[in-house]
Amino acid sequence: MRFVVFLILAMANAQADINVDLLSKEARQQVSHFAAELKTTLQTGMASGGPVPAVKLCQLEAPKIAARRGDGGWQVGRTSLKTRNPDNAPDAWELATLKLFEQRKAAGENIATLEATRMTDTEFRYMKAIPTGGLCVACHGETLSTPVVEVLNRLYPQDRARGFKKGDIRGAFTLSKPVAVAK
Ligand code: HEC
Repeated sequence: MRFVVFLILAMANAQADINVDLLSKEARQQVSHFAAELKTTLQTGMASGGPVPAVKLCQLEAPKIAARRGDGGWQVGRTSLKTRNPDNAPDAWELATLKLFEQRKAAGENIATLEATRMTDTEFRYMKAIPTGGLCVACHGETLSTPVVEVLNRLYPQDRARGFKKGDIRGAFTLSKPVAVAK
C-alpha cells in the first residue's frame, strides 16, 4: 500500500516536471517572439533619426507589446532591479529572482543561460535574464548624449535604468500563463 502511494506521488511529480519542461519550452518561444518585436521597434526608431525618436517609439510601443496576451494566454513583459518605466517594477518573486540572477552571474554563470520557473496553483511563471549589449548603452549606459538625457528626463522622471555597462544584466523577461493544476 505504502509503495502504491509512493508510486502515485512519484508519477504525479514526474508529470509536474514534464509540464514544467513543456511550459518552459513554450515560454522560451514567447521570449524570442517578444524580443524580435522589441528589436524591430528599436531598429525602426533608430533608423528614423537615432536614439531620441527611438526612445519615443519605445515609450509608445513597448508597453503595448507587453500588455497583449499572447498565444496560449501568455502574459509577457520585462522587469529590472533598476527600471525606466515604473510599471515594469518587479513583484516579490521577480525581485528575488533578479537578485538570484546577479548572484549566479557573480558566481560565473553566463547571463544567456540564466532562467527561473515557478508553478503556483493558478499560473506558471518564467523569467530569463537580459544581457546589456553594445547597442543598449546609448540609452542605458554610463554616459548618455545630452539629447537622450533630455528626452529621458522628460518622459521618464523616475528613470533608474542608467549606468549599465556592456555585459551587465539589464533585467529580465518575465512571463506567466494561467494553468489549472489537478489536485
Ligand atoms: C533608444 C533608446 C533605447 C535603447 C537603445 C534601448 N532601450 Fe531599453 N528602454 C528604453 C525605453 C524608452 C524603455 C522604457 C519602455 C517602457 O516605457 O516600457 C526601455 C525599457 C527597457 C527595459 C524594461 C525595464 C525598464 O527599465 O523599464 C529593459 C529590460 C530594456 N529596456 C532593455 C534594453 C536592452 C537589453 C537594450 C539593448 C538591446 C535596450 N534596452 C536598448 C530605451 C532604450
